[in-house]
Amino acid sequence: MNKFYITTPIYYVNDKPHIGHAYTTIVADVLARYWRLRGSEVIFLTGTDENSQKNVEAAEKAGEEVKSYIDRMSAVWQETWDSLGLTNDDFIRTTEDRHHKAVEEFWKRVEKSGDIYLGKYEGWYCVGCEAFVIESELNNGNCPIHKKPAERYEQENFFFKLTKYREALLKYIEENPYFIQPVARRNEITNYIKDFMQDVSISRQSTKWGIPVPATELTTKDDKNKTQAIYVWFDALINYLSGVGFGTDEKKFEKFWPADLHLVGKDIIKFHCALWPAMLMSAKLELPKHVFAHGFFTINGDKISKSLGNAIDPVELANEYGIDAIRYYLLKDIHFGEDGDFSNERLKARYENELANDLGNLLHRVLSMTEKYTEGKIPAKSNGEIKTWNDYDQALEEFRLHDSLEAVWSVIRDANKLIEQSKPWELAKTDLKKLNEILYNLLETLRHVGWMLLPIMPETAQKILNSLGLDEAELKKTYEQAKEWGGLPENGIIMKGEPLFPKKGSL
Ligand code: MSP
Repeated sequence: MNKFYITTPIYYVNDKPHIGHAYTTIVADVLARYWRLRGSEVIFLTGTDENSQKNVEAAEKAGEEVKSYIDRMSAVWQETWDSLGLTNDDFIRTTEDRHHKAVEEFWKRVEKSGDIYLGKYEGWYCVGCEAFVIESELNNGNCPIHKKPAERYEQENFFFKLTKYREALLKYIEENPYFIQPVARRNEITNYIKDFMQDVSISRQSTKWGIPVPATELTTKDDKNKTQAIYVWFDALINYLSGVGFGTDEKKFEKFWPADLHLVGKDIIKFHCALWPAMLMSAKLELPKHVFAHGFFTINGDKISKSLGNAIDPVELANEYGIDAIRYYLLKDIHFGEDGDFSNERLKARYENELANDLGNLLHRVLSMTEKYTEGKIPAKSNGEIKTWNDYDQALEEFRLHDSLEAVWSVIRDANKLIEQSKPWELAKTDLKKLNEILYNLLETLRHVGWMLLPIMPETAQKILNSLGLDEAELKKTYEQAKEWGGLPENGIIMKGEPLFPKKGSL
């Protein structure tokens, strides 16, 4: 792939990021780093969804002017990703001019396709979801997700002819089996499109907040454009286009669109797998290659919620354990695509067993033996191979992040076994040639482990490579060169540093 364009959802700024949001963004970061290593030109886009009524309510609650509240909160999101070391190439805000331009252009295209009409909407609306709720789904008038009263809604709005695309969407999903993943979500969406999908209202009576409906032939009749703002989801989805220059930088857009992967939570798949592709069909633009929906996080079994006050701050957690341990835990403990539970106990256990013992001790032992038996010098090259590169690459190409880690840990476990079986401390007395062969094998194996960990645990990977005496020249290698056996130069000098994962007695 010579380019890779990956996105996260853009987050509402009515609250600060919690571990569930960090999860999506970290996964995007792993894949972005991976494709960069493979030499692709990558755009990793994240950002904030700012035109929502939710944000307005949050600003009012905070007693702040909406714009200043939104600026302040959007910065909190960007700073969080920065302090977690995430490498997003851009950060889109839907109050930016470039986004407004893209939305306007997009609306015009959809209108030109004859897909916008003026209609009347009557029903129930949940501000928490920023979506309509079907009456039969309400519990005593409350939204089933937010447990708050839905609002009665009766307005004349512009509608998008979503149902016109029913057959085309079903055909596309059928012909592109990997468009929506995992398969359970694909089935859920197919049923929704077949049996429930209706036209959607894409504007709201509002002059206070949001992107105004553009003035067009259709919308200027009775000055409707002056009283309507674009429905926040219709505007938000377009961020994936404005982030790569739609309507402002055609060259960039040509190069990067369609997106290779939209990462989303399972709660927002209807928007991403039905509405969004239909919008793109209407605007005569290509569809994203993949939409992957991950599951939902609970904390020690409970839903993450403000009222329970159990939201975990990812920055605090990273300060306690180190960001790489958190990245490892999130990817390893949760089968990507399924729901998962965040448990401090399991984080601690994995830190001690898999990170400090399996990996940290391996590096420590190999470096100590090299110091002891060869005065810290890398011995002459010996033969060997790493069997799991294919599994590792395939896992990442197919978004099976937990399997990619399994591929790395099988190398680590084999290296630990090699030490136990070959007993270098005995070879030191009986067979120096064999000892050197084994040592080279272990050190070179660690170089491969370092490379495999670069996208997943970047700080740790860097430390491993440095401790093998490798400098920037190593990172200048192409991915294919890096994967070849024997890349570690003989006579190099190792540099044993601090333990990778210090014991956390007090945790
Ligand atoms: N603004 C919309 C997305 C627009 S994309 C064009 C939105 N924002 S959100 O802030 O409410 O949620 C953003 C993402 O965070 C969603 O993918 C959602 O699934 C995810 N998560 C929110 N809580 C989560 C968990 N507890 N666990 C995992 N992901 C969670 O929706």
